[in-house]
Amino acid sequence: MADKKAQLIIEGAAPVELPILTGTVGPDVIDVRSLTSTGRFTFDPGFMSTASCESKITYIDGDNGILLHRGYPIEQLAEKSDYLETCYLLLNGELPTAEQKAQFVSTVKNHTMVHEQLKTFFNGFRRDAHPMAVMCGVVGALSAFYHDSLDINNPQHREISAVRLVAKMPTLAAMVYKYSMGQPMMYPRNDLTYAENFLHMMFNTPCEIKPISPILAKAMDRIFILHADHEQNASTSTVRLAGSSGANPFACIAAGIAALWGPAHGGANEAVLTMLDEIGDVSNIDTFIAKAKDKNDPFKLMGFGHRVYKNRDPRATVMKQTCDEVLNELGIKNDPQLELAMRLEEIALTDPYFIERSLYPNVDFYSGIILKAIGIPTSMFTVIFALARTVGWISHWKEMLSSPYKIGRPRQLYTGYDSRDVNKLEDRK
Ligand code: CMC
Repeated sequence: MADKKAQLIIEGAAPVELPILTGTVGPDVIDVRSLTSTGRFTFDPGFMSTASCESKITYIDGDNGILLHRGYPIEQLAEKSDYLETCYLLLNGELPTAEQKAQFVSTVKNHTMVHEQLKTFFNGFRRDAHPMAVMCGVVGALSAFYHDSLDINNPQHREISAVRLVAKMPTLAAMVYKYSMGQPMMYPRNDLTYAENFLHMMFNTPCEIKPISPILAKAMDRIFILHADHEQNASTSTVRLAGSSGANPFACIAAGIAALWGPAHGGANEAVLTMLDEIGDVSNIDTFIAKAKDKNDPFKLMGFGHRVYKNRDPRATVMKQTCDEVLNELGIKNDPQLELAMRLEEIALTDPYFIERSLYPNVDFYSGIILKAIGIPTSMFTVIFALARTVGWISHWKEMLSSPYKIGRPRQLYTGYDSRDVNKLEDRK
């Protein structure tokens, strides 16, 4: 894997030879691990040029708009598989056979309920708390309930924890929503598919059980597939970092949820709708586009741009198609917010500022619109992202623990004071 070498010339010191590692596809990486012996470190805030780990799970080619899970293009997974198949793929490396799928689905369904006592946790939160705040708390609390699967050095424990997380996230997400609404929490129904069951727990009540629209369930399943994993993004790296200290899986996923919450990451789907509200009307678009272009204005067009995709976001293409299907199914036409969104999309695809900077609509732009159309409140959008991404997080966590690993511990370029003495209070000026 390392037949090429790079040479680092440091003024006044002997050159350092660094191996160049080659992956299956994608750019080579320069292995700088031996640099510590020279007493120097690399400096890369934001990890713009740093590969933090080796992984076999997901590959992204941002220049060409490619996203592969275990080698399979996301477009094909969205069309030919479903979320639980994608989960199996991410966790195990291969798509399941029919028999393996039946077994996996049945195992997941065995774990959909949460410990009855977990319900009491909710009462400690205000009803108007942000759902992501509650999610961080209740997912972290799972480690207080499932002691029997917390030995991270035991592969079977890791397996059970992974399944528990995939199975319980929809239940917890729906419980968070019901709590915020003051409605009774709904138990999962194992006769439904993963997506149908989630919509059932979200929108049905004990006094009225309505059938779930297959088109909306398919859209929900697509949203789950398209958010399932995205290699070493901020939240996944957070999960790996937390996991590298030996923290238990539920605590690691809670850390991932916290990292996802930010508007530059998973919070963007919520921020899209908040922005559309702020813009208010098509007549105000020019003002907001001018703000987005103004270097002195912090305003950014939410749902546009991506750290890795500098062409198109392949997830956005599938999501746009699903968006059209959902709006058609629900008969939504002439919606002012939607009209606004479509006008923004048009501008971003034609305005030189956005073209030159490759700022295309990303997955969150369309998923926000779909979720709103389905009737999911804006504050729940990032929770749904977290639900879907849990399998990606836990797959990366399992991958890291399955081979030798080190605690993640970056260094720094220190620019503070050198050592100085503490003066007595009366001598300080
Ligand atoms: N609106 C206006 N200008 C933008 C935007 C935007 N949404 N995004 C980037 N730019 C400009 C930025 O000002 C900079 O301009 P210049 O070169 O003149 O200084 C240029 O484009 C490059 O931007 P950057 O900030 O260096 O890019 P980045 O890779 O550090 O940031 C990003 C990527 C996603 C954080 C950023 O594009 C952004 O904040 N977008 C809005 C939030 C959003 O939709 N996030 C969801 C990402 S997809 C979900 C996920 O995978 O988490």
